[in-house]
This record gives sequence, C-alpha cells and structure tokens, in this order.
Amino acid sequence: MRIDVLSLFPQMFEVPFSFGIFKRAIDQKLVSIHLHNIRDYTHDKHHTVDDYPYGGGSGMVLKPEPIFEAVEAIKDEVHAEAGAAELPSILLTPQGRLFNQQIAQELSQYRHLILICGHYEGIDERVREHLATDEISIGDYVLTGGELPALVVIDAVIRLLPGVLGAEFSAREDSHVDGLLEYPQYTRPAVFRGWAVPEVLLSGNHAQISRWRREQIIRRTLERRPDLIKMEELEPEERQLVKQLTSSVKKSQSSVNKEPEE
Ligand code: ADE
Repeated sequence: MRIDVLSLFPQMFEVPFSFGIFKRAIDQKLVSIHLHNIRDYTHDKHHTVDDYPYGGGSGMVLKPEPIFEAVEAIKDEVHAEAGAAELPSILLTPQGRLFNQQIAQELSQYRHLILICGHYEGIDERVREHLATDEISIGDYVLTGGELPALVVIDAVIRLLPGVLGAEFSAREDSHVDGLLEYPQYTRPAVFRGWAVPEVLLSGNHAQISRWRREQIIRRTLERRPDLIKMEELEPEERQLVKQLTSSVKKSQSSVNKEPEE
C-alpha cells in the first residue's frame, strides 16, 4: 500500500515512522509513506498557505490552491503507475465520519490513500467539496491539526495489511474486530502480589478456555460498551447470557432504588 500525506508539518511523522511495527512494515516494503509539505506547492515569495476568512472572523483559513496542486501532482505520478484507478483523498476533520475498526478495514483494501491534514481555524470549503472524496474524524473533540488523526488512521490501517503483524491472527482477535471488546489476557506469574490468574486458563482444557473467553467478551462488552452488542449476531447461548446478565443487573438496580420498607 502507498500512503501520501499532505501536511504543513511533515516532520511530525518522522519519529513515529522510525520505530517498531511502522518501521518494519516500511523496511519490508509492505507500505510506503510519502510525506508532502503543502508549503512546497505554493508559488509566491512567502510560500503563503493560509489567508483571512472571507466575511471576517477569527483565525486563518488554509488556501485551496496548494492543496489541489499537491493532490493533482500525486495523482499524476500515481496514474503513471499501473492499476491506480481508485484513489481516495481523505480529509482529516472533526466534521468527518467517525473513524472505527470497520472504516480501518475498508481503507486497508485500497492500494493507495491520500490523507490531507487540515490546520488553523479551517480549510477552504472547496477542498471538501471538490477534492476530498472522504472526510474522517477520530473523535468528538477538536485537535490543532490533522496530523495526529492521520497517524491514528495510518496505524489502524497498516496493522491490518497482510504480513505487518508478526502473528496474523492477532489482528483478527482484537477488540472491535467482530464488533465486541477483547477478553482479558494474562501472562506469568500465575500469582502476582496475591492476584491469581483465573484457574480455567491454567487448566489446559482448550474447549473450556474458549468458552470462558467468549463469555468474558460478552460480559465485558455488556458492562463497558452495551451499544456494541447486536443480539442477532450472537450465538443462542450468548444471547441467553446477555439476557441473564442484563436481568441480574436490573434486579440489583431495583433493590438499590427500592424505598426502605416501613
Ligand atoms: N482535526 C482536528 N480535530 C480533528 C479530529 N477530531 N479528527 C480528525 N481531524 C481533526
């Protein structure tokens, strides 16, 4: 996969890409990252990338010309390569669709992505309307720029590419992969400061371990992210467990809320 990133601060990406799984994926040519400074696509003496907003107001707005030119230059280069038909140009913005594992999966299917990092108070609306093919937000909060969101997206996407993670199955077992949270993990020692690892995990009984893990997934998701539970996607036993757990929570709540008897 090739990822082109447009930013006013491409240096912000250098450190993260120099370590660990990112670095290995780049060295193994599983992904190539091309950083572009938006400023390099300006033509005036001062390399102006922003200007005052029409209509007044505080802050500066990123100008459209250098961003359009940067994306067009990348497209020209890539179109020269074979098989580069679709090329998503994604704007990172708090107004975008909320990033999640499903979107990461979707993006990991492309051979090429362009990520555009906005900055300052905003970006000229014509970039949104006529250049970006997608807009992504990493959460309902406002950051100073799109660089950290772009890194989040790149991280979530790269680790899904075949061969990037040592053991491929570890990406499949993650939290959120099947829409639920992950079961708890333990390693040695079996007892740490008096806290013991659940007995079943030491039993060597794989069927039991697997059942326990699935139950933990359901319990944990129900406790922490009940919004993720889709009853129709669960096995009958799991549905039963959800009902049982929900009714025991309701019972304990109603006993807490009950008026004390006279
Ligand atoms: N730029 C600023 N805040 C952002 C956010 N939450 N997601 C994506 N891009 C952003």
